[in-house]
Amino acid sequence: MTRVVVVGSANLDLGVAVPHLPAPGETVLGDDVAARPGGKGSNQAVAARRLGVETRFFAAIGDDRFGDDVRAALAAEGVPLDHLTTVEGVATGVALIVVDPEGENTIVVAPGANARLADGALAGLPAALDQGTVLVLQLEIPPATCLAAARHGRAAGARVLLNAAPLPDPVPADMTVLLREVDVLVVNEGEALRLSGSTADWPTLAAALRGLGPDAVVITLGAQGAVHADATGTATHPAYPVDAVDTTGAGDSFVGALAASLAEGLPLAEAVRRGCAAGALATTRMGAQSALPTRPELDSFQNTHEELSHA
Ligand code: RIB
Ligand code: NA
Repeated sequence: MTRVVVVGSANLDLGVAVPHLPAPGETVLGDDVAARPGGKGSNQAVAARRLGVETRFFAAIGDDRFGDDVRAALAAEGVPLDHLTTVEGVATGVALIVVDPEGENTIVVAPGANARLADGALAGLPAALDQGTVLVLQLEIPPATCLAAARHGRAAGARVLLNAAPLPDPVPADMTVLLREVDVLVVNEGEALRLSGSTADWPTLAAALRGLGPDAVVITLGAQGAVHADATGTATHPAYPVDAVDTTGAGDSFVGALAASLAEGLPLAEAVRRGCAAGALATTRMGAQSALPTRPELDSFQNTHEELSHA
């Protein structure tokens, strides 16, 4: 079955566009605040769903107004609410995001209910997994829950994809245990450097990270594209050139598109190109989840770009 299952965070993003990112102690006047659904897990689930793939999402929200907003947004996207746990007396996760005119951001996350996503919330996970499933995980939920989910994925023969973001600094010692349960690892430059402890070139680094367990490793390089390594070798993928206004959620757009493409049976190299295109498109619009492309948008963007590059 073509299916993406995401276990991860759901936040309400409070975003403000500012003329420059504040320095410590500085107050900056920005635009009006925008409240939008977010969280890496939720964004990745919606990214896959917008590309037309059946998607399940295991997450925790609080019993507050933001939780209602998160729930309504997922329902509007066609992501089933069956696996959403409401934790009483706890706030829904909130992300405080500021974005400068170049599209660069800083993000502070108050995890709230995400920190309470416990093993118990995964009771329905085994039944949602089979060999055709891509199980997608990130690091905004308790590490023990992440590991339990990965082990369910392995037991079901699903493909386990970990986006190791945000990666704590220093890297927790038990990360090696989790990585042994992972089939596809997706990291950005900083995460790749910290996980490997090396500063070799990106393809060498991607290949080296396979030694930690994952069969395939993808390193996203922002405006430089991406590299991947698997058993057949390494490859680099150029970026799709765009005018970025807000890079928030670009990584989630990449991961959601990668997962959806792998679930559809595309080879890794093609799935990574699709991820690059989806990531680029997401930077052309404000917000994280609000900026994720639909399938027709992604198809036409990729077609236009490929025609141009062959002209
Ligand atoms: O990756 C972007 C996301 O990170 C935002 O939506 C925010 O909620 C934080 O989790
Ligand atoms: Na964006």
